[in-house]
Amino acid sequence: MSLTLGVLASGSGSNLQSILDACATGRLDARVAVVISDNVDAFALQRGRSAGSAAEVVEFTASPNREAHDERVVEALRRHGVDTVVLAGYMKLVTPVLLDAFPGRVVNIHPALLPAFPGVHVHGDVIAHGVKFSGCTVHFVDAGMDTGPIIIQAVVPVRDDDTPDTLASRVLREEHRIFPQALQYLAEGRLHVAGRRVLLQPPSPASGTLHNPTVSS
Ligand code: GRF
Repeated sequence: MSLTLGVLASGSGSNLQSILDACATGRLDARVAVVISDNVDAFALQRGRSAGSAAEVVEFTASPNREAHDERVVEALRRHGVDTVVLAGYMKLVTPVLLDAFPGRVVNIHPALLPAFPGVHVHGDVIAHGVKFSGCTVHFVDAGMDTGPIIIQAVVPVRDDDTPDTLASRVLREEHRIFPQALQYLAEGRLHVAGRRVLLQPPSPASGTLHNPTVSS
């Protein structure tokens, strides 16, 4: 079943662009109904508008706390008929207000191999720690920071002469590949969540209904 996406992005929006491109070429059975940013200057807003999506700014400073901010975000997502929320470089921790409004349907990308290196300033930490491989992770979002069940990961080498920027661009290429892929699995209803594990089911004939990820303990 085709997904109606709401993409939350704070910055450049290259991941958003990979999703828009995958929708346009049919690799992803979805449309981006709205791009929402907490940052009025986010280039992601322009990318969304250029692709024909709505674009809205919900500034954090306009709300007394994170929950009130998320209430405004949820209102905008609902107004645009969103069924799946995509965090694509969204620099805010979402609260249960948003998670409860879209249970099992909030997905994030993180530029490291979780559970290693959660949080921000990831690439510098990866290099400083001396690990030989890094990568990226698409995961369902829960109330923790970068802790939800993992859908797909991709691995890249860390080179001796890497800077945070060179490593970021190598990781980003993989982000652009696996994020639309993970969303397509969701669109196909192929994701089964068993505790912390997300199991990929074989493809089945389209049933015309919106599939929530199945869950077992
Ligand atoms: C990506 O590396 C993403 O994993 C991280 O922030 C970056 C956003 O990049 N959360 P972009 O805005 O999608 O270009």
